[in-house]
Amino acid sequence: MRLIESQGLTKIYKREGRWFSSSANEAMPAVDRVSLHVEKGETLGLVGESGSGKSTLARLLLGLEKATEGRLLFRGEDMTRWGFRRLRNIRGRMQMVFQNSYSSFDPLFTVEKIVGEPLSNYGNITARERRRIVLESLDMVGLGAAYAGRYPHELSGGQLQRVNIARALVLQPELLVCDEPFSSLDFKLRRQILTLLEELKRRLGLSYLFITHDLSAVSRFCDRVAVMYRGQIVETLPGARIAEETLHPYTRSLLDAVPVQDPRLRRSKTGRPPGEPALLRGDNIIRGCRFCSRCPAAMPVCYTVEPALERKRPSHQAACHLYAHEAEGKPNLPNC
Ligand SMILES: Nc1ncnc2c1ncn2[C@@H]1O[C@H](COP(=O)(O)OP(=O)(O)O)[C@@H](O)[C@H]1O
Ligand SMILES: [Mg+2]
Repeated sequence: MRLIESQGLTKIYKREGRWFSSSANEAMPAVDRVSLHVEKGETLGLVGESGSGKSTLARLLLGLEKATEGRLLFRGEDMTRWGFRRLRNIRGRMQMVFQNSYSSFDPLFTVEKIVGEPLSNYGNITARERRRIVLESLDMVGLGAAYAGRYPHELSGGQLQRVNIARALVLQPELLVCDEPFSSLDFKLRRQILTLLEELKRRLGLSYLFITHDLSAVSRFCDRVAVMYRGQIVETLPGARIAEETLHPYTRSLLDAVPVQDPRLRRSKTGRPPGEPALLRGDNIIRGCRFCSRCPAAMPVCYTVEPALERKRPSHQAACHLYAHEAEGKPNLPNC
């Protein structure tokens, strides 16, 4: 069952402070006609370079921002038609775990107050009940009751991230959106948090939207992965197969840019795919594929026709002209 689904979701931020430019009133889509869903119990990974629109898409899905266009469905029902109360209740069922733990906490609040904060917005519960829920949440993330009275500055990075997750759990969500949950953690702590998330998924039947740069975490942890480039989803496939079976040249370039231990093997020193990002549709330059100016396998058609996100193999969609024949069962693929 589809827990949450977007259809043609678009977010356009108006440009500001560009009075002298001919494109002063032009708008650039941060999220551009995205149709994506998360199944109940699924972990969906979302990857892509910085600025590709991942966080914006997450905020739209959670209703923290309003879409410019498109529809959002929760369990198949169109949320755009819902009233305030119903929306508020549903929002409690979908929670965000933010990337930067320390700065997202009020330094004057104790862990108990931080974790219990979301409860204040939902219904009237007694202080006793509230404390019970908070302690239960802390226990679920491996922090005992002793942590309840501590302040953020007394905690390590890994403990703060656990507090962050505990806070997201108090409303008993069905979906947790983790926006780069590892960005401030070292390798060992990443493993620990990943293991914790896996355990919570098993115990609570959670679904995850998991935004990350860590492609090895994607292959281990995600049932499915969606690759985002310049506001659009360009590929979706099972997470475990991302390294071997990716079709889209952009996903391939992300894999090639993964930093490796030996610097001589590193293809891109910056950890980004080589080449300059192409200009956006809002700039009236590109009619074809967004990635064509950086793509090592671009063909003339790529500059003129936008490729649609299509099923190329079972459980595998890609938006790329290179694979037009694949869907028809002709296996002669260019090697890219
Ligand atoms: N509140 C905002 N106002 C204007 N532009 C924004 C805002 N939030 C994001 N953007 C722009 O939208 C694009 C996507 O950003 P974001 O969703 O943060 O990408 P990611 O999370 O993949 O790094 C970027 O070009 C960014 O500058
Ligand atoms: Mg982001």
